Order: sequence, then C-alpha cells, then structure tokens
Amino acid sequence: MAVTPDDQVLEIGCGRGSAVSLVAEHLTNGRIVAIDRAATMVRLATQRNLSHIDAGRAEIRRAGFESADLPTDHFTKIFAVNVSLFWLGDAAQQIARIRSLLAPGGRLYVFGERPTEAHATANLAATEVLLETHGFATTTSSATRGQGQVLTCVIGTPIR
Ligand SMILES: C[S@@+](CC[C@H](N)C(=O)[O-])C[C@H]1O[C@@H](n2cnc3c(N)ncnc32)[C@H](O)[C@@H]1O
Repeated sequence: MAVTPDDQVLEIGCGRGSAVSLVAEHLTNGRIVAIDRAATMVRLATQRNLSHIDAGRAEIRRAGFESADLPTDHFTKIFAVNVSLFWLGDAAQQIARIRSLLAPGGRLYVFGERPTEAHATANLAATEVLLETHGFATTTSSATRGQGQVLTCVIGTPIR
C-alpha cells in the first residue's frame, strides 16, 4: 500500500489489529481508523496497538462498516484483509459507501488469502469485475506465501 506519513487510512474488519500496527508505524501526521463489528476483535486490536492509539496515530472502533460514523471524502487509503465485504451483503451499497469515504485520488485495497493459485485467480477476477462494474479502475497483484497460500490484492481507483 506504500503508506506515507500523512495518509488517512481506514481498515474495515481489522480483526486482531496486526495490519493496524504495520500501517501505523509509517504514520506521523496521518492516522488509521480501524473498525470491526466484533467486540472481542476490537479489544484484542486495541491491546495490540495501545502505543499507536496513545500517540494519536490509530483509532480502533467497534462498528459495522454499513453504519459506522465515518467522514466522507476523507480517506486516502481504504483497505480490508480477508473480509467478505462484497459477497455477503449488498455489494453495490458497500462500494458506493467506500467511494463516498475516499478522498479525491484515494484508493481501495482489497486483500485476500487463498489456499491455491486457482482460488486466488478466481477471487482476483471476481473482485476486479465487481469493482469495474461499479466504476473503479483496477490493478491486481498476488504473492505466494508459505504452504502454497496465496495473498491477493485488488487495487481500485474510482474513475467516475
Ligand atoms: C476473517 S476476519 C479477518 C481479520 C483481519 N482483517 C485479518 O486478516 O486477520 C474478518 C473480520 O472482519 C470483521 N467484519 C466482517 N464484516 C464486517 C463489516 N461489515 N463491518 C465491520 N467488520 C466486519 C469480522 O468481525 C472479522 O473480525
């Protein structure tokens, strides 16, 4: 994601908060807001990131993405890792909301871990089609990790 010190970052579905730590390390004036609808995950993510929260670089909140109180036209980077954001609910609504929260020039990063290359390819293709249908330009990347696990990422930039 090439996080820069001034980035305003939103993570959807932060789980235990390991990505929050990785992002917050790069921030100075910027800030990461991370949400998760599960109270246990918010507690664990908060414990893990106390120093970043105390320094004002991170905020972790219990909220569902659909109803979270978030500023519009604000985030330079929005990301999610292994969250079924588009596949369980109303994808059009979710994507419209992401678009409204992105600052001009902002980007969406959809990460996923898949057990095989075939699963990864299918996941990348489905996410690309979905985002392009809703007015995003996309690029994709993937990297094989241990035991054949593949980490995929679709980057989406609003074009209309
Ligand atoms: C599979 S876990 C992944 C957690 C973390 N991103 C990771 O990669 O370790 C998915 C997380 O997303 C949260 N989640 C799923 N849908 C959400 C939504 N619509 N709003 C907020 N959190 C959500 C779940 O509570 C869960 O903690």
